[in-house]
Amino acid sequence: MLDVRGVPVSYDNAEALERYEAALKKLHQFSYDPTPDLEDIMAEYPDFAMAPIFYAAAIAGGSAGRYDPDMQSLISQAEKIGGLNDREQGLIAAIQRRVAHDWRGAQLAVDSVLAEYPHDTLALHLGHQFDFLLGDALNLRGRVERALPYWDEHIPNYANVLGMHAFGLEECNMFEHAEAVGKEACERDADDGWAHHAVGHVIEMVGRHEDGIRWYGTRKEHWATGDGLSIHNWWHFCIYLMEAENYPRILEVYDDYITPDESADPESLADSTSLLWRLMLHDVDVGGRWEANATRWRQLVAEGEGGFYGFNDLHAAMSFAAMGWVDDLSDLEDKALKQAQQSHTLGQIAREVSVPVVQAIRAWHAENYESCLDILSAVRPLLVRFGGSNAQRDVVDQTMLVAAIRGRLGKRAVLLANERIVRKPAGPLALRLSERAHAA
Ligand SMILES: [Fe+2]
Repeated sequence: MLDVRGVPVSYDNAEALERYEAALKKLHQFSYDPTPDLEDIMAEYPDFAMAPIFYAAAIAGGSAGRYDPDMQSLISQAEKIGGLNDREQGLIAAIQRRVAHDWRGAQLAVDSVLAEYPHDTLALHLGHQFDFLLGDALNLRGRVERALPYWDEHIPNYANVLGMHAFGLEECNMFEHAEAVGKEACERDADDGWAHHAVGHVIEMVGRHEDGIRWYGTRKEHWATGDGLSIHNWWHFCIYLMEAENYPRILEVYDDYITPDESADPESLADSTSLLWRLMLHDVDVGGRWEANATRWRQLVAEGEGGFYGFNDLHAAMSFAAMGWVDDLSDLEDKALKQAQQSHTLGQIAREVSVPVVQAIRAWHAENYESCLDILSAVRPLLVRFGGSNAQRDVVDQTMLVAAIRGRLGKRAVLLANERIVRKPAGPLALRLSERAHAA
């Protein structure tokens, strides 16, 4: 049968498909984790192959490595059901590349599905996440644009497609276009947390922090609940507050919404780390908040995340450095070096980016700020390859600037501050960093 967008599904049960659609909406909106719903659907309709495929795709869109066996098992479950159509087989091929750590191959496999089925929003979402994980801004925008001519507002999930487009435009620095598309997506689907977030990114990148506080404040009911993107959106809210030097409010938000628990995933933990690290760069006392963060990183590293994916390694290294856990830093570097020996996409990322950034943070911890700055300066053009957004990777730019200040490398500090001032002339943070650079 066909789903509501005309995409073929190898299972003929309208009720099962309706429940699948509701779970898909949660995925697109980044509101709630759809996997509990999928577990129920799989239990009730054991021959519905798209349910385990969707489940595996939902995991595959994250950065974790420790769920590879789960994804493999879900794929096997779908294959055992049999009778899969070419679209379902294509999605499985993409997830298999993801499990084999050939993430570039996974991107290309999704391209093949979308070439035949541009209305397959699960494939679009999965490809968008792969593009994000690989820092592939051109595909964050282009993948959606390759499908858009086949879309119109009457096709279900159109708003969510616009939300993805807005984020891709934003990461390509096409800010005006991104804001217009993102706001249209929010009008069409107010609860699309990804579209809301795309507009938030635009506002951050152009330095309109007061506008950002308003955008988040007036739309709170649409992004602050759920277990999808809410923590990350609180993080964005704090980044605006940082421009305003409202540190007490940031710490309050951190304690209420961002502080990690014992089950925190790498994505939300990286947000927590990034915020604490930025506060440290601006000499804000964060008290004992690092401990829970570093303890969770230690667990995740032991469970297989250490050395797996560079963006997470950077944040784990920052956390261990903040705690002075030298052995953990050294262990993390060893794991990244081991990953760097592999020929797949993650091995390439480890070679080019993860190993240098972990070494840079080790140099920071040893108060060898010049070495830290030298390493980060060399790797900076390649940083994009370990994914994350421009706003998230700004933590490295800020680290470089403060390394130059702390290392009393006055001229280099001023030059880095110049970049920031020119890019965000209205940003108080850029001005403060510039003053510190000149003083150094
Ligand atoms: Fe973001």
